[in-house]
Amino acid sequence: MSFLQISSNVQKMKQLESSALVRTTNKIQNELRQGVVKPYKEVINVCWGDPHMAGVKPLSFVRQVLAACLYPQLLEGDKLLVDVKQRAQRLLKTCVGGSVGSYTSTAGIPEIAQRVSEFIQKRDGGVPSYPENIYISPGSQWSLAKILNILVNPEASPRTGVLTPVPCHITTVLSITGMGAVAIPYHLNEEQGWTLQVEELQRALEAAKGLCNPVALYVINPGNPAGHVQSRKSMEEVIHFVSEKKLFLLADEVYQDCVYGENVEFFSYKRVLAELGPPLSDTVELASFHSASKGFMGECGLRAGYVELVNVDPAVMKHIYTFFSTDSCAPVLGQIALEVMVNPPQPGDPSYLIYNKETQHIKTTLKQNARRIFEVINNLQDFSCQPVEGAFAFPRIYLPPKAIQRAKEAGMQPDTYYCTRLLEEAGVLLSPGCEFGQKEGTYHIRLFIMTPQDIMVELLKRLSTFHVKFIKEFS
Ligand SMILES: Cc1ncc(COP(=O)(O)O)c(C=O)c1O
Repeated sequence: MSFLQISSNVQKMKQLESSALVRTTNKIQNELRQGVVKPYKEVINVCWGDPHMAGVKPLSFVRQVLAACLYPQLLEGDKLLVDVKQRAQRLLKTCVGGSVGSYTSTAGIPEIAQRVSEFIQKRDGGVPSYPENIYISPGSQWSLAKILNILVNPEASPRTGVLTPVPCHITTVLSITGMGAVAIPYHLNEEQGWTLQVEELQRALEAAKGLCNPVALYVINPGNPAGHVQSRKSMEEVIHFVSEKKLFLLADEVYQDCVYGENVEFFSYKRVLAELGPPLSDTVELASFHSASKGFMGECGLRAGYVELVNVDPAVMKHIYTFFSTDSCAPVLGQIALEVMVNPPQPGDPSYLIYNKETQHIKTTLKQNARRIFEVINNLQDFSCQPVEGAFAFPRIYLPPKAIQRAKEAGMQPDTYYCTRLLEEAGVLLSPGCEFGQKEGTYHIRLFIMTPQDIMVELLKRLSTFHVKFIKEFS
């Protein structure tokens, strides 16, 4: 199968697989509300990378600042701590007319872009960051789509190509193919913990020869759906590769706070690039994406993210500004959440204790979830899971031939069939691996690990019971 076929297949699967699972979930939930008796009382939904949907509670400081910005009368009472009030007052001053109801600059509120650049500089051990290179957007996916729009020439022949991981966050593949470009698949190495290997990039580029014109490499680190965290060495190899092949590097780093693996550390591409020194640090073009949707905050619905651009030609930067101006600005409440994400309460601040308690609780829970998933799944027959380092687990299921045959008869992909049965019989909604792309003949499921502990325990209990029954049925 060629990569052109894979791209169109992924689009088809998205419509046929996921949407059918969501429709079934809605039907089950309706039935449960009407009192229909099932072996479970509610559906556990870990299908999306959405912390609040998976049961994580919003952080108090974030919501208090947002509430005060939205309804400034709250600043007059004594319900809010003094640092919440000061933060809200300061942020309201940055809004035109002192209201979150006003439009902001196209690239976001300048003071917030300044905070974002300070955050990046601190995160990256002092590597300089400049607010004029930062664009705040309605979610990171939005800014990724805009940058892709600039890179992709829809009229070009051969078509523009973007090297894209397999498995990959489906929305990006849809953006690329939707623009008429080609998603050139490079496979992550499952057996080696879903690592990105430069030889595979080389192979993928060779395979694309004559079929498209590759202009960019898209990486997700920490990964979605594979949940791996790239090593510094691997990142350095990737940077050398993009430099040699003159590719624009698109680094999707939205899960940078979600790193739970033992001895695993997140490094940004910006930092690794800077520390490699000239000429690479002055020449490799990079867009790095981050978001208020993920991390401990998990404010997906507020829609805010940013992109930082590195080494992009000033003439192109002007064009990017114009292009981003086609939409007025990111939602102001999202921008405020982003400000709190990059500038959280510090030790000594009145809100610090509660902020620290809440974030530590989430961190500890997630670490335990990651360990628990790894242990439970690897103890089950015909199931294997690589170490869980990031926000997702992407275990492999070894489906018996009879189960594959039954899926065919039902007109489903084999792992979608597994997920459908799991949903109907055990009330657990997961994503089938086929949605993200996977090596032919392999089957996976994706679980989002950011759930409260009791939900994860219950989920794994239901999954284990179902899995044993399912494998037995088809063995
Ligand atoms: C890898 C990756 N990038 C980007 C996004 C989208 O983030 P945002 O809500 O900032 O658009 C997601 C969402 O799940 C994701 O998994």
